[in-house]
Amino acid sequence: MRPLVAHVDLAAIRHNYAVAKRCAPGREAFAVVKANAYGHGAREVVSCLHDEADGFAVACLEEAAEVRALHAGARILLLEGCFEPAEYLIAAQLRLDVAVQGPEQAQALLAAQLPSALNVWMKLDTGMHRLGFSPEALRDWHPRLRQAPQVAELNLMSHFANADLRGDELTEDQVACFLSVLDLDFDQRSLANSAAVLTIPAAHMDWVRPGIMLYGATPFSDIGAAELGLRPAMSLEAQLIAVREVAVGESVGYGATWVAERPSRVGTVSCGYADGYPRHAPSGTPVLVGGQRAALAGRVSMDMLAVDLTDLPEAAVGDRVELWGVNLPVDEVAAHAGTIGYELLTKVTARVPRRYRS
Ligand SMILES: Cc1ncc(COP(=O)(O)O)c(C=O)c1O
Repeated sequence: MRPLVAHVDLAAIRHNYAVAKRCAPGREAFAVVKANAYGHGAREVVSCLHDEADGFAVACLEEAAEVRALHAGARILLLEGCFEPAEYLIAAQLRLDVAVQGPEQAQALLAAQLPSALNVWMKLDTGMHRLGFSPEALRDWHPRLRQAPQVAELNLMSHFANADLRGDELTEDQVACFLSVLDLDFDQRSLANSAAVLTIPAAHMDWVRPGIMLYGATPFSDIGAAELGLRPAMSLEAQLIAVREVAVGESVGYGATWVAERPSRVGTVSCGYADGYPRHAPSGTPVLVGGQRAALAGRVSMDMLAVDLTDLPEAAVGDRVELWGVNLPVDEVAAHAGTIGYELLTKVTARVPRRYRS
């Protein structure tokens, strides 16, 4: 069997959900489980939070249906709303909470014949300019949705662009914009993603929406997950499958981009970009071999990558290799690769078996 596994620690996810709840005392929390629970496995994550989570948030109807099949009673929020009119009927049958992020969706909702009313979250564009009504349009649509037979609760939500940059002016403007429409009659309000759960109490409102923090990665570039009291949920573990000596001046891997500057030992690891390891990670990106740090050497291949073992003379074929996880934060690897932990976690591909520990 190919030695590559994504170990997922479900107790860590429960711990991290509890951290989110402690950060926002008295508030409810949608556990964001879109994109296969950020690559961790929606089925297992929803099951492990079955009794803890106040609700779940997903990106589309297909994801919502998967959550509903696992949890008959949960509140499930469709973060981008329905993509076509026919989806409102399915959303009602699945008893979803639905974002309504613009006039087209509002019109389609008001035209829908539904067996039961939906909890609707009007999305306000507070400054990210991705989804949502302008404050004026929101005021205009509010009374129509308030009176609509298709609407049970009428709620308000918005999303931050820069909550991960502490003290950012745009975030202050977004909070002010959100507060400016609270004279309207809403049943529930929701604004905070993980960064805001952790650092902006004024944004906690009634429901928070933690995503990345549940998986033990940080939303910030300058505060690590451990400092935030979070436990990494995924460890991507491979093995050394070959070791060789490389003489000065010889190269390693495609493109011959890494050239030995000293007599070197190079190891080959059973993980590549077809597993989700970023191909653009440069030489020098940290990798743990037998618990010790080594550096990526040369280009990542489809199924393998190389590490410089020259300073680890004991390293041998069969040694455990951690690409990221409990001992090497995914955020550190992401920073080397010029991306964020979110991307690395969500891109671990289907061929990597997930193994769960509860
Ligand atoms: C609308 C919305 N709310 C909450 C989240 C969770 O964000 P984070 O993973 O930064 O906590 C996301 C994720 O992208 C989102 O799109």
